[in-house]
Amino acid sequence: MSEPVETTEPSVPRSLRPERAAALSGALIVAVAMLVAAAARGQADGWLLLIAAVAAAFAAAAGGRARTVRSRERVRTQEARRSGIAEAILAHIPDPVILVDQRSLVVEANEAARALLPGLKTDHPLSFALRSPDVLDGIDAVLGGEGPLKVEYAERVPTERTFEVQIGRLRGNPSDLGGRSGIVLFFRDLTSTRRLEAMRADFVANASHELRTPLASLLGFIETLQGPARNDAAARERFLEIMRVQAQRMKRLIDDLLSLSRIEMRAHVPPTEQVDLKALAAHMVEMLAPLAHERGTAIELRLPDRPLTAQGDRDELLRVLENLIENAVKYGESGGRVDVELACAEGPDGRPQAVLAVQDYGPGIAPEHLPRLTERFYRVDVAQSREKGGTGLGLAIVKHIVNRHRGRLDIASEPGRGARFTVTLPAGE
Ligand SMILES: Nc1ncnc2c1ncn2[C@@H]1O[C@H](COP(=O)(O)OP(=O)(O)O)[C@@H](O)[C@H]1O
Ligand SMILES: [Mg+2]
Repeated sequence: MSEPVETTEPSVPRSLRPERAAALSGALIVAVAMLVAAAARGQADGWLLLIAAVAAAFAAAAGGRARTVRSRERVRTQEARRSGIAEAILAHIPDPVILVDQRSLVVEANEAARALLPGLKTDHPLSFALRSPDVLDGIDAVLGGEGPLKVEYAERVPTERTFEVQIGRLRGNPSDLGGRSGIVLFFRDLTSTRRLEAMRADFVANASHELRTPLASLLGFIETLQGPARNDAAARERFLEIMRVQAQRMKRLIDDLLSLSRIEMRAHVPPTEQVDLKALAAHMVEMLAPLAHERGTAIELRLPDRPLTAQGDRDELLRVLENLIENAVKYGESGGRVDVELACAEGPDGRPQAVLAVQDYGPGIAPEHLPRLTERFYRVDVAQSREKGGTGLGLAIVKHIVNRHRGRLDIASEPGRGARFTVTLPAGE
């Protein structure tokens, strides 16, 4: 991805040029200061902080030692070493860092910066690679004497990404840069933070909407029962039944929301029990037999001959089976049959895997919906899901549980021929 670096003095080894060495160290110090500032606001990763701490220690040690060195040769060696260390650390900072001079010519840039801006070339104007008036104006403002500042930079192609660019003046002696002043640009990727914020807002809006509908219906019936239908016994029975159904819907939704948040809270704690998967599948098929019978569907269970276990959470794995088989029975009802198959397979690493497949023979799912099915509240047909008592959270719960178990969920469907949900889990030896 990155372009070869063009140097102005090709005859001198790059790492030995003292001017570059000092510039690099200076850039690193500013980058580290910015990282530490970001961490103080709770926005940096732990390991980034570690790099920052190591870098700060190196810079401080190198700076301290430099003062005591007498011979020019030794200073050069030290600076070359500092440059090497600074360069190595800069290369490992996953965020783009760019150093420019007072004419906005690129002096130095790390790997991440070159990957972000492929047009970036040493000694060429930054504006050739980065067309952002906000960033370029920011550099002018900092050069004009303003303190460090932050601006936003957004990329549209190839994917939409948003960065916060921190622009700061390089501290130290301008002669370090051959009499030029230096400005450091530190890019922080805000894309995932923004996406998360949007998702959270969406989630709250969706959950509130899902609760408000049955609640409005309940309130409406209560008012009717208190008013016009006060003395109508037949209407009262009918309305109370509707109210019961609506209240149950709210309860299901709240139960699903609570289990989702419980699973999320435990997402990073791997389960420890050894679970007998054959017994679990048999138990859930038995539990759902009445529902299947009611819908004229037969559940066929196929189990492997030998025992099959997985390190897991029994209740969570039951929820996976319940959600998948229930969906197959409810949405694949027209197929009249649901196959639940448990098998042992060998994973790519040679380790045993447990494979659970739930196949129905109903209408299936159109390909455009497949990637979104595990999103919270995503439903192919909202009215149909509601009518069948769905909340739109079942597959989101399944996906979270499978992730916590270090497993995988695959969904395949040929419209008109049913759908197949496959869960693969690491199996016990
Ligand atoms: N076996 C299936 N066949 C067809 N559509 C399915 C099947 N399983 C799930 N879906 C679709 O995926 C959507 C999301 O499923 P889920 O997360 O379990 O929510 P819910 O069942 O509460 O609506 C369902 O609303 C339905 O549109
Ligand atoms: Mg469901």
